[in-house]
Order: sequence, then C-alpha cells, then structure tokens
Amino acid sequence: MNKMISASIMCADLLNLEKAIKELETAGIDYLHIDIMDGDFVPNITLGFDLINALKKVTDIPLDIHMMVKNPSTFIDRMNLDENDILCVHYESEIHIHRTLEMIKNKGCKAGLAINPATPLENVQYLTDYIDMLLVMTVSPGFAGQKLYKGAERKVADAKSKLHEWGCENILIEVDGNISLPNGEKLSRKGADIFVLGTSSLFLKDKTLTQAAEDFRAVL
Ligand code: DX5
Ligand code: ZN
Repeated sequence: MNKMISASIMCADLLNLEKAIKELETAGIDYLHIDIMDGDFVPNITLGFDLINALKKVTDIPLDIHMMVKNPSTFIDRMNLDENDILCVHYESEIHIHRTLEMIKNKGCKAGLAINPATPLENVQYLTDYIDMLLVMTVSPGFAGQKLYKGAERKVADAKSKLHEWGCENILIEVDGNISLPNGEKLSRKGADIFVLGTSSLFLKDKTLTQAAEDFRAVL
C-alpha cells in the first residue's frame, strides 16, 4: 500500500496560506490535515469550518479533518466535503460514537476514528465496519511541537496486527504528533499508512516544503 503524507495546516504560515497550499500541491502532498479544536476536549483552539469550506474551493488536495471537539456530531453538516475527504472524530469525544460514524458515512465522505494514547485498541473492534481510517495519536492531542509518547511505536504495531486479526486490512492507520524523519521511519515499519507532518518534519525554517516532503518520503 502507498504511504501518504497529510500536511498539518495549523503549522503552516497562516498569513500566506494560499502560497503554502500551492506549494503543497506542487510537492504532491496527499492530504491537508485540518485540526479543529474547541478549547474543551483539548486545551486549545485552532482552525474552523469557514476555513475548510474556503479550502474546498481553491484546492483539489483532499482534506483530512481531525475533530478534537466534544460532541462532534453537532458540527458534521457544517462542512462541505466529498468522497475523497476524511472526517475523523475521537472515540473519547462522544458517548454514542457509533451513531456519529454513521452520520459521517451518510454524508458521503470517508470516516476516521481517532484514539488518544490511553484508549485501548479493543475499543475500536466493533466499529470497524464504519471506518476507513484509524488515527493512532502519537502525542496527546491539542498542540504542535510535542514529543512522541513512549507507547506510540508499540501501539501502532499492535494496531496493525489487530486490524489484520479482525480482517480489516483495508482500514488505513494514520499517525499524528512528532512525526519526525526517524519517528516516521520507525512507525512506517510498524505499519502506519498516513503520516501527519507538522513542525517536526515539514514546516521547517531551513527547507522548502517540497524538499521537506521529498526527504520524508525517502525514509518511508
Ligand atoms: C494536532 C496536530 C499536531 C501537529 C503535528 O493534532 O496535528 O499533532 O500539527 O505536528 P508536530 O507534532 O510535528 O508539530
Ligand atoms: Zn491532528
């Protein structure tokens, strides 16, 4: 399976976003990772629905939306998405997460389920029919620039083997948080498919986005 890069837009130069998007298109980036936070599920506030709908008008790069909000089902119809976009919600963010995943599937886009570091993989087992992607958080969500947590590598390896055991090899594994070149290389070997790149490897002072993306692909 092809390994894919999702560029974390909260780490881009927000005052020159159009320039960054054009460069990410040239660099052949697979997804734009859009972090939506509510200051409640996570202690931070970032991007929002107006930006998502504006992006859909200017780029063909599919969106990979990471909802870090309580009760995400409230907001699902605020976004104009198509079948190539992924809308990802946290297992921990809603009591009836199965219903939320069904709502996303009915919307016609792909559904993702994110799990925090402390959430066991088994919690996903009976939801696999409703998801296209499993986002294994490799830091506690909320901020760019954190360090990979100690169980991350083991959890990605376990996610790969559990999905295989459950007959769900079609579900892609995404990793988000401190995906540097060495961490990307390790997690790729453990079975990650989509890599969210932020301050650790893509948005760097001393490299163009194109060069940084090329260097990251070389370690996968
Ligand atoms: C939050 C974000 C961050 C970040 C990733 O979910 O997606 O994890 O932008 O980039 P790093 O950790 O490299 O700054
Ligand atoms: Zn994210």
